[in-house]
Amino acid sequence: MKLCMIGTGYVGLVSGVCFADLGNEVVCVDKDLNKIEKLKKGIIPIYEPGLEELVKKNQKNGRLRFSSNLKDCIIKSDIIFICVGTPTKKNGRDADLTQVFNVTKKIRSYIKSKFKIVITKSTVPVTTGDQIEKILFKNKSKKLFSVVSNPEFLREGEAIRDFIYPDRIVIGTSNDKTNKILKNLYSPLISKGAKYINTTRRASELIKYASNAFLATKITFINEIANLCEKTNINVEDISIGMGLDKRIGGRFLRSGPAYGGSCFPKDTKSIVTTADKFKVNLSLIKTVIKSNKKRTLLLLNKVNEILKGKIKNKNICFLGVTFKANTDDMRDSSSLIMIPSLAKKGAKINYYDPSGEKNFFKKIKNVIFSKNIKSAIRNSDLVIIHTEWNDFKSINFKSLIKKKNFVIYDMRNIYSSLKMKKDKIKYFGIGR
Ligand code: UGA
Repeated sequence: MKLCMIGTGYVGLVSGVCFADLGNEVVCVDKDLNKIEKLKKGIIPIYEPGLEELVKKNQKNGRLRFSSNLKDCIIKSDIIFICVGTPTKKNGRDADLTQVFNVTKKIRSYIKSKFKIVITKSTVPVTTGDQIEKILFKNKSKKLFSVVSNPEFLREGEAIRDFIYPDRIVIGTSNDKTNKILKNLYSPLISKGAKYINTTRRASELIKYASNAFLATKITFINEIANLCEKTNINVEDISIGMGLDKRIGGRFLRSGPAYGGSCFPKDTKSIVTTADKFKVNLSLIKTVIKSNKKRTLLLLNKVNEILKGKIKNKNICFLGVTFKANTDDMRDSSSLIMIPSLAKKGAKINYYDPSGEKNFFKKIKNVIFSKNIKSAIRNSDLVIIHTEWNDFKSINFKSLIKKKNFVIYDMRNIYSSLKMKKDKIKYFGIGR
Protein backbone atom coordinates (compact mmCIF):
# COMPACT_ATOMS: atom_id res chain seq x y z
CA MET A 1 0.00 0.00 0.00
CA LYS A 2 1.12 3.56 -0.61
CA LEU A 3 0.79 5.55 2.58
CA CYS A 4 1.22 9.22 3.36
CA MET A 5 1.76 10.33 6.95
CA ILE A 6 1.09 14.04 7.41
CA GLY A 7 3.02 15.30 10.42
CA THR A 8 6.29 13.82 11.63
CA GLY A 9 5.71 14.11 15.38
CA TYR A 10 5.66 11.06 17.62
CA VAL A 11 2.63 9.41 16.11
CA GLY A 12 3.31 10.19 12.44
CA LEU A 13 6.98 9.36 12.47
CA VAL A 14 6.78 6.17 14.52
CA SER A 15 3.76 4.74 12.73
CA GLY A 16 5.15 5.76 9.32
CA VAL A 17 8.45 4.03 9.99
CA CYS A 18 6.74 0.93 11.36
CA PHE A 19 4.32 0.73 8.41
CA ALA A 20 7.33 0.90 6.09
CA ASP A 21 8.99 -1.87 8.05
CA LEU A 22 5.86 -3.97 7.51
CA GLY A 23 6.41 -3.68 3.75
CA ASN A 24 4.41 -0.60 2.75
CA GLU A 25 5.63 2.31 0.64
CA VAL A 26 5.54 5.27 3.03
CA VAL A 27 6.15 8.96 2.66
CA CYS A 28 6.27 11.12 5.80
CA VAL A 29 5.54 14.73 5.05
CA ASP A 30 5.92 17.83 7.20
CA LYS A 31 5.77 21.58 6.59
CA ASP A 32 8.87 21.99 8.77
CA LEU A 33 11.55 21.97 6.04
CA ASN A 34 14.41 21.84 8.51
CA LYS A 35 12.99 18.72 10.15
CA ILE A 36 12.48 17.02 6.79
CA GLU A 37 16.03 17.84 5.66
CA LYS A 38 17.37 16.33 8.89
CA LEU A 39 15.18 13.24 8.59
CA LYS A 40 16.42 12.72 5.04
CA LYS A 41 19.93 12.56 6.52
CA GLY A 42 18.79 10.10 9.17
CA ILE A 43 18.79 12.70 11.98
CA ILE A 44 15.82 11.97 14.28
CA PRO A 45 14.12 14.95 15.98
CA ILE A 46 12.97 12.95 19.03
CA TYR A 47 14.62 10.58 21.45
CA GLU A 48 12.95 7.21 21.00
CA PRO A 49 14.82 3.94 21.52
CA GLY A 50 15.24 1.97 18.27
CA LEU A 51 13.73 4.62 16.01
CA GLU A 52 16.91 5.81 14.33
CA GLU A 53 17.94 2.30 13.30
CA LEU A 54 14.50 1.60 11.86
CA VAL A 55 14.44 4.89 9.93
CA LYS A 56 17.84 4.22 8.39
CA LYS A 57 16.99 0.61 7.52
CA ASN A 58 13.78 1.56 5.72
CA GLN A 59 15.28 4.58 3.98
CA LYS A 60 17.97 2.29 2.67
CA ASN A 61 15.55 -0.30 1.36
CA GLY A 62 13.57 2.49 -0.33
CA ARG A 63 10.27 1.97 1.46
CA LEU A 64 10.50 5.15 3.54
CA ARG A 65 10.77 8.69 2.20
CA PHE A 66 10.57 12.14 3.71
CA SER A 67 9.14 15.09 1.85
CA SER A 68 7.74 18.58 2.25
CA ASN A 69 5.73 18.40 -0.96
CA LEU A 70 2.28 17.73 0.42
CA LYS A 71 0.50 17.91 -2.94
CA ASP A 72 2.70 15.31 -4.58
CA CYS A 73 2.52 13.00 -1.55
CA ILE A 74 -1.27 13.16 -1.36
CA ILE A 75 -1.75 12.54 -5.07
CA LYS A 76 0.53 9.50 -5.06
CA SER A 77 -0.91 7.79 -1.94
CA ASP A 78 -3.82 5.41 -1.36
CA ILE A 79 -4.17 6.12 2.33
CA ILE A 80 -3.55 9.47 4.00
CA PHE A 81 -2.96 9.58 7.75
CA ILE A 82 -3.47 12.91 9.50
CA CYS A 83 -0.93 12.89 12.34
CA VAL A 84 -0.58 16.59 13.13
CA GLY A 85 -0.63 17.97 16.67
CA THR A 86 -3.81 18.69 18.60
CA PRO A 87 -2.44 20.73 21.52
CA THR A 88 -4.57 22.38 24.17
CA LYS A 89 -5.85 25.80 23.08
CA LYS A 90 -4.65 28.92 24.88
CA ASN A 91 -7.90 28.86 26.90
CA GLY A 92 -6.46 25.73 28.60
CA ARG A 93 -9.57 23.69 27.84
CA ASP A 94 -10.24 22.29 24.37
CA ALA A 95 -8.05 20.73 21.72
CA ASP A 96 -6.81 23.09 19.03
CA LEU A 97 -7.82 21.49 15.73
CA THR A 98 -6.45 24.24 13.47
CA GLN A 99 -3.72 22.02 12.03
CA VAL A 100 -6.13 19.13 11.43
CA PHE A 101 -8.54 21.31 9.49
CA ASN A 102 -5.81 23.13 7.57
CA VAL A 103 -4.45 19.81 6.38
CA THR A 104 -7.97 18.60 5.54
CA LYS A 105 -8.53 21.63 3.31
CA LYS A 106 -5.28 20.91 1.52
CA ILE A 107 -6.20 17.26 1.00
CA ARG A 108 -9.50 18.39 -0.45
CA SER A 109 -7.86 20.76 -2.90
CA TYR A 110 -5.31 18.20 -4.12
CA ILE A 111 -7.59 15.23 -4.72
CA LYS A 112 -9.02 15.09 -8.22
CA SER A 113 -10.29 11.69 -9.24
CA LYS A 114 -8.65 8.82 -7.37
CA PHE A 115 -10.36 7.37 -4.26
CA LYS A 116 -8.47 8.02 -1.00
CA ILE A 117 -8.89 6.84 2.55
CA VAL A 118 -8.32 9.75 4.93
CA ILE A 119 -7.52 8.67 8.47
CA THR A 120 -7.15 10.66 11.67
CA LYS A 121 -4.42 9.17 13.81
CA SER A 122 -4.09 12.39 15.77
CA THR A 123 -6.13 12.32 18.99
CA VAL A 124 -9.25 14.28 18.12
CA PRO A 125 -12.49 15.00 20.00
CA VAL A 126 -15.56 12.99 19.15
CA THR A 127 -17.32 14.33 15.99
CA THR A 128 -14.08 15.70 14.48
CA GLY A 129 -14.35 13.05 11.74
CA ASP A 130 -17.80 14.43 10.87
CA GLN A 131 -16.29 17.90 10.48
CA ILE A 132 -13.42 16.56 8.36
CA GLU A 133 -15.93 14.80 6.13
CA LYS A 134 -17.93 18.01 5.75
CA ILE A 135 -14.83 19.90 4.61
CA LEU A 136 -13.78 17.15 2.19
CA PHE A 137 -17.24 16.73 0.67
CA LYS A 138 -17.66 20.43 -0.10
CA ASN A 139 -18.10 20.57 -3.91
CA LYS A 140 -16.51 17.12 -4.26
CA SER A 141 -17.96 13.71 -4.96
CA LYS A 142 -18.59 11.65 -1.81
CA LYS A 143 -17.17 8.69 -3.69
CA LEU A 144 -13.69 10.23 -3.59
CA PHE A 145 -13.11 9.91 0.16
CA SER A 146 -13.61 7.61 3.06
CA VAL A 147 -12.97 9.34 6.39
CA VAL A 148 -11.81 7.03 9.16
CA SER A 149 -10.71 7.28 12.78
CA ASN A 150 -7.77 5.06 13.71
CA PRO A 151 -6.33 6.26 17.02
CA GLU A 152 -2.82 5.37 18.08
CA PHE A 153 -2.15 3.98 21.56
CA LEU A 154 1.65 3.97 21.59
CA ARG A 155 3.60 5.29 24.56
CA GLU A 156 6.68 7.48 24.27
CA GLY A 157 9.79 5.50 25.08
CA GLU A 158 8.07 2.23 24.10
CA ALA A 159 6.66 3.48 20.83
CA ILE A 160 8.00 0.89 18.39
CA ARG A 161 7.12 -2.07 20.56
CA ASP A 162 3.66 -0.62 21.22
CA PHE A 163 3.07 -0.14 17.50
CA ILE A 164 4.15 -3.62 16.51
CA TYR A 165 2.47 -5.42 19.40
CA PRO A 166 -0.62 -3.35 20.16
CA ASP A 167 -3.32 -4.70 22.49
CA ARG A 168 -5.88 -3.58 19.94
CA ILE A 169 -6.29 -1.82 16.62
CA VAL A 170 -9.36 0.38 16.48
CA ILE A 171 -10.85 1.30 13.12
CA GLY A 172 -13.77 3.70 13.09
CA THR A 173 -15.61 3.39 9.81
CA SER A 174 -19.00 2.19 8.61
CA ASN A 175 -17.68 1.63 5.09
CA ASP A 176 -17.12 -2.11 4.47
CA LYS A 177 -14.69 -1.62 1.58
CA THR A 178 -12.52 0.71 3.66
CA ASN A 179 -12.63 -1.65 6.62
CA LYS A 180 -11.43 -4.51 4.43
CA ILE A 181 -8.49 -2.46 3.09
CA LEU A 182 -7.45 -1.41 6.60
CA LYS A 183 -7.78 -4.89 8.04
CA ASN A 184 -5.45 -6.00 5.29
CA LEU A 185 -3.01 -3.15 6.07
CA TYR A 186 -2.87 -4.24 9.70
CA SER A 187 -2.88 -7.99 8.97
CA PRO A 188 0.82 -8.47 9.96
CA LEU A 189 -0.02 -7.15 13.44
CA ILE A 190 -3.30 -9.05 13.67
CA SER A 191 -1.49 -12.28 12.86
CA LYS A 192 0.85 -11.58 15.80
CA GLY A 193 -2.12 -11.41 18.18
CA ALA A 194 -3.42 -7.83 18.03
CA LYS A 195 -7.19 -7.59 18.38
CA TYR A 196 -8.87 -5.75 15.51
CA ILE A 197 -12.00 -3.77 16.32
CA ASN A 198 -14.22 -2.17 13.72
CA THR A 199 -16.66 0.35 15.11
CA THR A 200 -18.24 3.67 14.21
CA ARG A 201 -15.99 6.65 13.65
CA ARG A 202 -17.36 8.54 16.65
CA ALA A 203 -16.93 5.52 18.93
CA SER A 204 -13.34 5.13 17.77
CA GLU A 205 -12.59 8.78 18.55
CA LEU A 206 -14.07 8.39 22.00
CA ILE A 207 -12.28 5.10 22.71
CA LYS A 208 -8.99 6.96 22.51
CA TYR A 209 -10.02 9.77 24.85
CA ALA A 210 -11.80 7.47 27.29
CA SER A 211 -8.74 5.19 27.42
CA ASN A 212 -6.36 8.02 28.25
CA ALA A 213 -8.78 9.52 30.76
CA PHE A 214 -9.19 6.11 32.42
CA LEU A 215 -5.43 5.55 32.68
CA ALA A 216 -4.98 9.05 34.11
CA THR A 217 -7.71 8.23 36.62
CA LYS A 218 -6.02 4.97 37.57
CA ILE A 219 -2.73 6.75 38.25
CA THR A 220 -4.45 9.52 40.20
CA PHE A 221 -6.34 6.92 42.21
CA ILE A 222 -3.17 5.16 43.33
CA ASN A 223 -1.48 8.50 43.98
CA GLU A 224 -4.25 9.45 46.40
CA ILE A 225 -4.12 6.01 48.04
CA ALA A 226 -0.35 6.57 48.39
CA ASN A 227 -1.10 9.71 50.41
CA LEU A 228 -3.16 7.60 52.80
CA CYS A 229 -0.42 4.96 52.96
CA GLU A 230 2.09 7.58 54.06
CA LYS A 231 -0.10 8.46 57.04
CA THR A 232 -0.84 4.87 58.01
CA ASN A 233 2.61 3.33 57.62
CA ILE A 234 1.66 1.09 54.71
CA ASN A 235 3.71 0.48 51.58
CA VAL A 236 1.62 1.55 48.58
CA GLU A 237 3.39 -1.05 46.43
CA ASP A 238 1.74 -3.78 48.49
CA ILE A 239 -1.58 -2.15 47.71
CA SER A 240 -0.78 -1.98 43.96
CA ILE A 241 0.15 -5.66 43.94
CA GLY A 242 -2.81 -6.69 46.06
CA MET A 243 -5.24 -4.73 43.89
CA GLY A 244 -3.57 -5.48 40.59
CA LEU A 245 -3.85 -9.24 40.96
CA ASP A 246 -7.60 -8.84 40.62
CA LYS A 247 -7.95 -9.34 36.86
CA ARG A 248 -10.79 -6.82 36.78
CA ILE A 249 -8.35 -4.16 38.00
CA GLY A 250 -4.99 -5.20 36.52
CA GLY A 251 -1.60 -4.22 37.86
CA ARG A 252 -0.45 -1.80 35.17
CA PHE A 253 -0.62 1.96 35.63
CA LEU A 254 -0.85 1.53 39.39
CA ARG A 255 2.59 2.94 40.14
CA SER A 256 2.36 5.99 42.34
CA GLY A 257 4.74 8.84 41.72
CA PRO A 258 4.73 12.51 40.80
CA ALA A 259 1.76 14.02 38.99
CA TYR A 260 1.23 12.34 35.62
CA GLY A 261 2.57 14.41 32.74
CA GLY A 262 3.47 14.15 29.09
CA SER A 263 1.94 15.30 25.86
CA CYS A 264 -1.23 13.23 26.20
CA PHE A 265 -2.88 12.65 29.59
CA PRO A 266 -2.98 16.32 30.70
CA LYS A 267 -4.18 17.51 27.28
CA ASP A 268 -6.66 14.69 26.64
CA THR A 269 -8.31 14.78 30.07
CA LYS A 270 -8.95 18.51 29.63
CA SER A 271 -10.24 18.01 26.13
CA ILE A 272 -12.68 15.19 26.96
CA VAL A 273 -14.34 17.17 29.76
CA THR A 274 -14.64 20.21 27.49
CA THR A 275 -16.18 18.12 24.72
CA ALA A 276 -18.62 16.58 27.20
CA ASP A 277 -19.50 20.03 28.56
CA LYS A 278 -20.39 21.05 25.00
CA PHE A 279 -22.84 18.14 24.92
CA LYS A 280 -24.08 19.21 28.37
CA VAL A 281 -22.61 16.16 30.08
CA ASN A 282 -20.66 16.66 33.27
CA LEU A 283 -17.66 14.31 33.45
CA SER A 284 -17.20 15.15 37.11
CA LEU A 285 -14.88 12.23 37.84
CA ILE A 286 -12.35 13.28 35.20
CA LYS A 287 -12.62 16.90 36.34
CA THR A 288 -11.65 15.74 39.82
CA VAL A 289 -8.73 13.78 38.40
CA ILE A 290 -7.42 16.90 36.66
CA LYS A 291 -7.67 18.89 39.91
CA SER A 292 -6.10 16.15 42.00
CA ASN A 293 -3.19 15.79 39.57
CA LYS A 294 -2.58 19.55 39.63
CA LYS A 295 -2.55 19.54 43.42
CA ARG A 296 -0.14 16.62 43.50
CA THR A 297 2.87 18.69 42.45
CA LEU A 298 2.19 21.15 45.29
CA LEU A 299 1.75 18.26 47.68
CA LEU A 300 5.14 16.82 46.75
CA LEU A 301 6.69 20.27 47.03
CA ASN A 302 5.27 20.54 50.55
CA LYS A 303 6.86 17.21 51.33
CA VAL A 304 10.24 18.56 50.12
CA ASN A 305 9.75 21.48 52.45
CA GLU A 306 8.95 19.09 55.32
CA ILE A 307 12.01 16.94 54.55
CA LEU A 308 14.23 20.02 54.66
CA LYS A 309 12.45 21.21 57.82
CA GLY A 310 11.35 24.40 56.12
CA LYS A 311 14.94 25.42 55.34
CA ILE A 312 15.11 25.46 51.55
CA LYS A 313 17.27 28.58 51.16
CA ASN A 314 20.85 27.77 50.08
CA LYS A 315 20.20 24.03 50.17
CA ASN A 316 21.77 22.04 47.34
CA ILE A 317 19.01 20.05 45.73
CA CYS A 318 19.75 17.60 42.94
CA PHE A 319 17.12 16.39 40.51
CA LEU A 320 17.86 13.05 38.89
CA GLY A 321 15.70 13.10 35.79
CA VAL A 322 13.47 15.96 34.68
CA THR A 323 11.49 14.45 31.80
CA PHE A 324 7.92 13.33 32.50
CA LYS A 325 9.02 9.72 32.27
CA ALA A 326 12.04 7.66 31.28
CA ASN A 327 13.26 6.94 27.74
CA THR A 328 12.03 10.18 26.29
CA ASP A 329 13.42 13.71 25.99
CA ASP A 330 9.90 15.10 26.20
CA MET A 331 9.41 17.75 28.89
CA ARG A 332 5.77 18.50 28.14
CA ASP A 333 3.78 18.84 31.36
CA SER A 334 6.57 17.29 33.40
CA SER A 335 6.10 18.10 37.10
CA SER A 336 9.77 19.17 37.22
CA LEU A 337 8.77 22.27 35.24
CA ILE A 338 6.90 23.46 38.32
CA MET A 339 9.02 21.92 41.06
CA ILE A 340 12.43 23.19 39.99
CA PRO A 341 11.49 26.88 39.47
CA SER A 342 9.51 26.86 42.70
CA LEU A 343 12.43 25.51 44.76
CA ALA A 344 14.91 27.81 42.98
CA LYS A 345 12.68 30.77 43.79
CA LYS A 346 12.83 29.82 47.45
CA GLY A 347 16.61 30.06 47.29
CA ALA A 348 17.60 26.43 46.68
CA LYS A 349 20.58 25.72 44.43
CA ILE A 350 19.48 23.16 41.90
CA ASN A 351 21.69 20.77 40.02
CA TYR A 352 19.98 18.43 37.63
CA TYR A 353 21.01 15.58 35.43
CA ASP A 354 18.91 13.89 32.78
CA PRO A 355 20.22 11.26 30.34
CA SER A 356 18.33 13.04 27.55
CA GLY A 357 20.43 16.18 28.06
CA GLU A 358 20.10 19.80 29.11
CA LYS A 359 16.69 21.48 28.88
CA ASN A 360 16.24 24.96 27.42
CA PHE A 361 13.49 25.82 29.87
CA PHE A 362 15.86 25.65 32.84
CA LYS A 363 18.63 27.68 31.15
CA LYS A 364 16.75 30.88 31.98
CA ILE A 365 16.28 30.09 35.64
CA LYS A 366 18.70 31.46 38.21
CA ASN A 367 20.41 28.90 40.42
CA VAL A 368 19.56 25.97 38.15
CA ILE A 369 22.51 24.14 36.64
CA PHE A 370 22.70 21.12 34.35
CA SER A 371 25.36 18.59 35.29
CA LYS A 372 26.87 16.34 32.68
CA ASN A 373 26.70 13.19 34.78
CA ILE A 374 25.19 11.70 37.91
CA LYS A 375 28.41 12.01 39.85
CA SER A 376 28.83 15.75 39.49
CA ALA A 377 25.10 16.35 39.89
CA ILE A 378 24.82 14.73 43.30
CA ARG A 379 28.29 15.47 44.76
CA ASN A 380 27.30 18.44 46.95
CA SER A 381 23.66 17.57 47.54
CA ASP A 382 21.74 18.07 50.73
CA LEU A 383 18.77 16.48 49.03
CA VAL A 384 18.59 14.20 45.99
CA ILE A 385 15.20 14.00 44.30
CA ILE A 386 14.76 11.03 41.98
CA HIS A 387 12.15 12.48 39.67
CA THR A 388 12.27 10.19 36.63
CA GLU A 389 12.72 6.41 36.58
CA TRP A 390 15.65 6.22 34.10
CA ASN A 391 17.58 2.93 34.37
CA ASP A 392 20.74 5.01 34.94
CA PHE A 393 19.44 5.90 38.42
CA LYS A 394 18.72 2.37 39.60
CA SER A 395 22.01 1.40 41.20
CA ILE A 396 23.73 4.50 42.48
CA ASN A 397 26.14 4.23 45.38
CA PHE A 398 24.99 7.42 47.08
CA LYS A 399 27.28 7.14 50.08
CA SER A 400 30.42 7.05 48.01
CA LEU A 401 29.33 9.84 45.64
CA ILE A 402 27.81 12.43 47.96
CA LYS A 403 30.23 14.52 50.00
CA LYS A 404 27.73 15.83 52.57
CA LYS A 405 27.19 13.62 55.60
CA ASN A 406 23.50 14.15 56.26
CA PHE A 407 22.16 14.05 52.77
CA VAL A 408 18.58 12.93 52.18
CA ILE A 409 17.03 11.07 49.26
CA TYR A 410 13.48 11.67 48.11
CA ASP A 411 12.71 8.87 45.68
CA MET A 412 9.57 9.93 43.83
CA ARG A 413 9.60 6.72 41.75
CA ASN A 414 10.18 4.21 44.56
CA ILE A 415 13.21 2.82 42.77
CA TYR A 416 15.09 1.89 45.96
CA SER A 417 14.22 -0.30 48.91
CA SER A 418 13.49 1.64 52.10
CA LEU A 419 14.80 -1.29 54.14
CA LYS A 420 18.13 -1.31 52.32
CA MET A 421 18.42 2.44 52.77
CA LYS A 422 17.70 2.07 56.49
CA LYS A 423 20.38 -0.60 56.75
CA ASP A 424 22.84 1.69 54.96
CA LYS A 425 21.86 4.49 57.36
CA ILE A 426 20.71 6.77 54.57
CA LYS A 427 17.84 9.15 55.28
CA TYR A 428 15.35 8.15 52.64
CA PHE A 429 11.78 9.00 51.66
CA GLY A 430 9.71 7.30 48.99
CA ILE A 431 6.17 7.77 47.80
CA GLY A 432 3.34 6.13 49.72
CA ARG A 433 5.55 4.32 52.19
C1 UGA B 1 0.02 7.75 26.96
C2 UGA B 1 -0.72 6.40 26.86
O1 UGA B 1 -0.17 5.46 27.78
C3 UGA B 1 -0.64 5.83 25.45
O2 UGA B 1 -1.43 4.66 25.37
C4 UGA B 1 -1.19 6.88 24.47
O3 UGA B 1 -1.08 6.43 23.12
C5 UGA B 1 -0.40 8.17 24.59
O4 UGA B 1 -0.50 8.63 25.96
C6 UGA B 1 -1.00 9.16 23.63
O5 UGA B 1 -2.18 9.51 23.81
O6 UGA B 1 -0.37 9.47 22.61
P1 UGA B 1 2.61 8.47 27.19
O7 UGA B 1 2.07 9.84 27.48
O8 UGA B 1 3.69 8.31 26.20
O9 UGA B 1 1.41 7.50 26.70
O10 UGA B 1 3.17 7.89 28.55
P2 UGA B 1 2.68 6.90 29.72
O11 UGA B 1 3.63 5.79 29.80
O12 UGA B 1 1.26 6.56 29.60
O13 UGA B 1 2.90 7.84 31.00
C7 UGA B 1 2.12 9.01 31.20
C8 UGA B 1 2.35 9.57 32.59
O14 UGA B 1 1.83 8.69 33.58
C9 UGA B 1 3.82 9.74 32.95
O15 UGA B 1 3.98 10.94 33.66
C10 UGA B 1 4.13 8.54 33.82
O16 UGA B 1 5.18 8.75 34.72
C11 UGA B 1 2.81 8.39 34.55
N1 UGA B 1 2.57 7.05 35.10
C12 UGA B 1 2.37 5.99 34.26
C13 UGA B 1 2.52 6.87 36.47
O17 UGA B 1 2.70 7.83 37.25
N2 UGA B 1 2.25 5.64 36.97
C14 UGA B 1 2.04 4.58 36.16
O18 UGA B 1 1.80 3.46 36.69
C15 UGA B 1 2.11 4.76 34.78
